[in-house]
Amino acid sequence: MKLTLKIWRQANAQAPGKMVTYPIDNVSPDMSFLEMMDVLNEQLIQKGDDPVAFDHDCREGICGMCSMFINGEAHGPDRLVTTCQLHMRKFKDGDTITIEPFRANAFPVIKDLAVDRSAFDRIQQAGGFVSVNTSGNTQDANAIPIDKHDADRAFDAATCIGCGACVATCKNASAMLFVSAKVSQYALLPQGKVEATDRVLNMVKQMDSEGFGNCTNTGACEVECPKGISLENIARMNREYLSASIKG
Ligand code: SF4
Ligand code: FES
Repeated sequence: MKLTLKIWRQANAQAPGKMVTYPIDNVSPDMSFLEMMDVLNEQLIQKGDDPVAFDHDCREGICGMCSMFINGEAHGPDRLVTTCQLHMRKFKDGDTITIEPFRANAFPVIKDLAVDRSAFDRIQQAGGFVSVNTSGNTQDANAIPIDKHDADRAFDAATCIGCGACVATCKNASAMLFVSAKVSQYALLPQGKVEATDRVLNMVKQMDSEGFGNCTNTGACEVECPKGISLENIARMNREYLSASIKG
């Protein structure tokens, strides 16, 4: 396949960025999108040019690092896949592909396509955990029966990989889908109920202080989420927040 890539190049957070056009040849339809980017970077390095910076780690849909906005969609045109799981057979010979970073005020560009998503880490640190008594008298987790339906919904929420596609897709740059998945995975389990009030209040407070926008129920986040995180988590988080605010 012969393609034309239009890629956002930006030296650092302060520098102005611009789209730069790169022709690329001999792309196999069986390559992943990141392998195609590797080929481009090898060519740039051989010519003495600066390779395109982009985040990646696992390359199997687990780590959530490969944040790219491809032809106007987070993680590209396929559904329920990350950029590293997207294959070039989704494109046609002769296509022009536009590649940009995830754009949001709370995700400043580090370089080219790499953005700083440490705001998500700070939200997690504000409450996305369960405190465990390690005194030696810790209760065996299997001793607490959990309804299968609740366990399944908690597991579904826990599949969020923190990629940030929901934020990049949302016209308000809202992080509600991410935060609600993290709140829900504990809200549905007895182990999570002990700290439930503080968790939701603190995580939402941190989310707001990071500069993410509000949710206006457009649902774009759910469509573009590579893990199929459901909007029902946002409704659950709103209920948790209301109840915590009354108690708190
Ligand atoms: S909710 Fe989905 S899109 Fe948002 S961070 Fe989690 S996995 Fe990514
Ligand atoms: S590189 Fe880990 S999810 Fe894509």
